[in-house]
Amino acid sequence: MAESKQPQGSGAQASEAQIAVHWREEEYVPPPPKFVEQANAKDPAIFDRFSEEHFPDCFKEYADLLVWDEPWHTTLDTSKPPFWKWFVGGKLNASYNCVDRHAEARPDKTAIIFVPELESDEHVAISYSELHRRVNEFAAVLRDSVGLKTGDRVTLHMPMVPELPVTMLACARLGVIHSQVFGGFSGTACGHRIADSGSRVLITMDGYYRSGQMQDHKAKADEALEAARQEGQEVDKVLVWRRRDGQYASKTPMADGRDFFVDGLLSEHRGATVEPVSMPSEAPLFLMYTSGTTGRPKGCVHSTGGYLSYVAGTSKYYQDIHPDDVYWCMADIGWITGHSYIVYGPLALGTTTVIYEGVPNYPDGGRPWRVAETLGVNIFHTSPTAIRMLRKVGPEEPKKYDYHFKHMTTVGEPIEPEVWRWYHSEVGKGKAAIVDTWWQTENGGFLGSTLPALQPMKPGSCGPGVLGVYPVIYDEDANEVPAGSGNAGNICIRNPWPGIFQGIWGQPDRFVATYYRKYNKDPDSTDWHDWPYFAGDGALQAADGYFRILGRVDDVINVAGHRLGTKEIESAALTVPEVAEAAAVPVIDDIRGRVVEVYVSLKPGFEPSKALEKKVSAAIDTQIGKIARPKNVWIVPDMPKTRSGKIMRRVIASISNFADVGDVTTLANPEIVDSIRHYVQSSKVARDDVPRELTEAEFEEIKKFGGE
Ligand code: PRX
Repeated sequence: MAESKQPQGSGAQASEAQIAVHWREEEYVPPPPKFVEQANAKDPAIFDRFSEEHFPDCFKEYADLLVWDEPWHTTLDTSKPPFWKWFVGGKLNASYNCVDRHAEARPDKTAIIFVPELESDEHVAISYSELHRRVNEFAAVLRDSVGLKTGDRVTLHMPMVPELPVTMLACARLGVIHSQVFGGFSGTACGHRIADSGSRVLITMDGYYRSGQMQDHKAKADEALEAARQEGQEVDKVLVWRRRDGQYASKTPMADGRDFFVDGLLSEHRGATVEPVSMPSEAPLFLMYTSGTTGRPKGCVHSTGGYLSYVAGTSKYYQDIHPDDVYWCMADIGWITGHSYIVYGPLALGTTTVIYEGVPNYPDGGRPWRVAETLGVNIFHTSPTAIRMLRKVGPEEPKKYDYHFKHMTTVGEPIEPEVWRWYHSEVGKGKAAIVDTWWQTENGGFLGSTLPALQPMKPGSCGPGVLGVYPVIYDEDANEVPAGSGNAGNICIRNPWPGIFQGIWGQPDRFVATYYRKYNKDPDSTDWHDWPYFAGDGALQAADGYFRILGRVDDVINVAGHRLGTKEIESAALTVPEVAEAAAVPVIDDIRGRVVEVYVSLKPGFEPSKALEKKVSAAIDTQIGKIARPKNVWIVPDMPKTRSGKIMRRVIASISNFADVGDVTTLANPEIVDSIRHYVQSSKVARDDVPRELTEAEFEEIKKFGGE
């Protein structure tokens, strides 16, 4: 059996303060002068404009980037806390702002460049006037052929193709609330989201390329409809885009009277124009589902005016987007990053946004750099997982290509300083300003980042709060943890900001309980100062005001920058009839940050087997998608439990990570710990799957996982 390891200089009892003391402060890296010269935000007076004294009116600067049909009368309405409303009285249309006004001003300007995954397929440039035509025609389909009206919800389950923003913008044109589900999620996961949002229409695609293979995506639509039906939601119509003109990439039949090819419907609406519906600022623009601590996903409701203002403003100042830049965010539009920083932000500013269909390393680790060279990309945006992977498969690749990034982003997970430095020196060739943007699905846009021309970078730290956002760290008793104290705590945002979501679809109490109850100072107060937003992340603030995000403090596992709830994974495992109990835990992974391992115990009469492990894994694939697929499924005789019967996830997480399990004497069944450890760790040693030694922060995360 392998020995348990502990991080050096730490121990099972290491306090937050000790962790911080061991944390080496990184040196500042200044932004390149050439970047500073041309930056949208290069005058430090901007900090004064967005100081607390000017809150909330400072955000007029963001709202003024948009065209409003009617001006707002109240910048921030706090009358029903914490359901904040921004720019109340104002009316606008998001589709008009992202399409029409640019199509009028610069019709031939490229809006979207689509890069198919197969390198033998040419990229496709879509101008703003072309985008306008396509959005209008599809809006006509949705309104006149499908019968969708303002306020209806429609679920999209689409891959990374230009038809996805066309669909989103056509919905926005009509005030129809879109809910795009990540294309990699399973049909069942999509079905749960259809049911939760009450969608009667699903928009999907027949197939798409991933790692060189055409995927049968339409098959998931049939599963989704079945899953939705089981929750009482009927879907009347399924609209199917086709990846290749005139071909059908799926093996599933089109259901007569229910499934329609979009190209067929479009042919009835050639040249149609649809007047954009003028929407109140606080009307929902879209839902974006994310994982929480309970099994049911949360549909985050994002507003029209506040959200669009916020993503336009942050795209301008933090992404430094100018209209003539070529901007490439390699995230998936199925996540919030893609909504805000592939579609709505860049298009609101009238720039060119690149959409890449496939995986970053197809067919090899040089692909992103070839795309950048060919298209003249000068702003690049990706996640630490992608950076780690590209570094592993092709550390020398970037220098082979002649591209020039002025600006780069990392988002979604903490980035190790060493990985940051490779991104900076190799990918950015030392010539790009980097922003490490910390935020969440709920937030609409960035919360923590350096302002690239005005604040130096510090590897591994996201930087201070962004303009007009005032973060604070509280301890468990709501005492403020001062900057530079060396102590970690819960990062919160003291004030509302325009991109904040307006609630969880259909679950108002859960919204208040999850994000505001913990640090609310007075439930009757209508003063925003009494309602700090609880982000659910642990963090540490250095003396210079920069934050270092440590990771989730709840039962959420961040896999490759994507949030997965342990309960969701466990519920999926429990659909296997032989399984009695299930527990999902994170395992440190050098590429994906964290991966999932699942422990299950069986009902009486069943024996462990490889087949059963596979069955559990397959259930998770079906219920959620491959992204949640566990690295290992461990079938154990029993779970370590407290006397009240709660599964001690921290104990099994420690076992999976070869960390010290800490004190287990208070468990109801302490003897089980050694036998599980022996089984799991010796199997891992045999598979050559021993994780590297944990850092102190990782050790703390594992030690606390799942609470007491
Ligand atoms: O733990 C934080 C981590 O990702 C979580 C939010 O995940 P999601 O809602 O899927 O949105 C991801 C993209 C915005 C956060 O609670 N996270 C996000 N960005 C960073 C980060 N952790 C460290 N550094 C970041 N830059």
